[in-house]
Amino acid sequence: MVYTKTLLYLYVVLVAFSVTSVSEARKRNTINIQFYMHDTPGGPNPSAVPVAGQQVNGTTPMFGFGTIYVMDNALTATPEVNSTLIGRAQGLYAMSSQGNEPSLLMTLTYNFVSGIYNGSSLSILGRNPIFNEIREMPVVGGTGVFRLARGFALAKTYSMFQVDAIIGYNVTVVPYY
Ligand SMILES: *[C@@H]1O[C@H](CO)[C@@H](O)[C@H](O)[C@H]1NC(C)=O
Ligand SMILES: *[C@@H]1O[C@H](CO)[C@@H](O)[C@H](O)[C@H]1NC(C)=O
Ligand SMILES: *[C@@H]1O[C@H](CO)[C@@H](O)[C@H](O)[C@H]1NC(C)=O
Ligand SMILES: *[C@@H]1O[C@H](CO)[C@@H](O)[C@H](O)[C@H]1NC(C)=O
Repeated sequence: MVYTKTLLYLYVVLVAFSVTSVSEARKRNTINIQFYMHDTPGGPNPSAVPVAGQQVNGTTPMFGFGTIYVMDNALTATPEVNSTLIGRAQGLYAMSSQGNEPSLLMTLTYNFVSGIYNGSSLSILGRNPIFNEIREMPVVGGTGVFRLARGFALAKTYSMFQVDAIIGYNVTVVPYY
């Protein structure tokens, strides 16, 4: 009886210890990256262009259900467009909601071009309800230092001028070591 109790106690301690150590290890290895994305579908030199969508009265409405954009957006260190270029967000976004809450399907890559992550990339796949203050999207993987990474991105609109937006991104990644 005493023996069983001791074993049980040991088991509880071991489980508790291993859970703590795994979460602690993950916390220690968590990488946080912050940058600003410049999404400029407007103007003479757009960084995001519509490539498909339903025609409504002869045009493809920007927020029309089914509209798909391809983007190559600059990622900078601060909201100023001429601040340090961190990387580029390249990929697709699609207007994927028919209801009252406009929402995008984001399938994009962040390709880093400076600093310690130069040459590495992250892949994002998720839903982006663009008028919510904070939008969370999963990081589903990466390359280079981000191989087998998991994490999440928090997006918050910093400013908006007509259709052009500057979005603050806060990305938390647990790399695989
Ligand atoms: C398309 O044109 C029709 C007829 O002019 C109009 O009633 C409708 O509101 C227009 N739709 C949009 C989305 O602009
Ligand atoms: C960036 O551009 C802004 C306005 O266009 C300017 O005021 C600022 O000095 C520029 N910063 C750098 C580092 O070039
Ligand atoms: C990033 O890496 C590329 C390829 O290795 C290199 O050519 C470039 O100079 C690096 N850029 C920075 C800012 O370190
Ligand atoms: C990112 O998250 C950190 C920690 O929660 C916070 O201090 C920072 O202001 C956030 N940055 C942006 C651009 O939202």
